[in-house]
Amino acid sequence: MTNRTFTMIKPDAMAKGHAGAILDRIVKEGYRIVALKMTKLSSEKAGEFYGIHRERPFYGELVSFMSSGPIMAAILEKADAVASFRTLIGATDPAKAEANTIRKLFASSLGENAVHGSDSDENAAIEGSFFFSGLEQF
Ligand code: RTP
Ligand code: MG
Repeated sequence: MTNRTFTMIKPDAMAKGHAGAILDRIVKEGYRIVALKMTKLSSEKAGEFYGIHRERPFYGELVSFMSSGPIMAAILEKADAVASFRTLIGATDPAKAEANTIRKLFASSLGENAVHGSDSDENAAIEGSFFFSGLEQF
């Protein structure tokens, strides 16, 4: 267990103006922001980021959605960050997410579900360095 995870505020939540509220919730839940940027993924970069899902039927839709507008990427620090953050964001499908989770509050569908959260310490490190150099982490 390490104390860092990686998150993105996805294009749907950015377009709806939820970025401020989501970041506020994250900070209030006790996460320290180690790195933060607003950027836009090309379809190549989105495809690479979600490459693990390449064979899944929703891959094309996922890549097109994730490259459809700006996102906010962040590295977060807290004890047991990966698992605790997955609890905070809730189930992949917002219809199945617990009350008061970020996806229950801000997501509209399984495909457009407001936030990403790393699923393991190993992926958190890989995903963090996908977006941030050492000089951008504090
Ligand atoms: P994420 O990686 O974005 O944090 O989401 P997750 O772990 O909860 O879910 P994952 O299985 O990794 O799926 C990645 C993203 O693909 C989209 N998805 N669409 N249409 C579908 O059946 C479907 N299933 C997954 C979602 O946007 C999901 O977050
Ligand atoms: Mg995932």
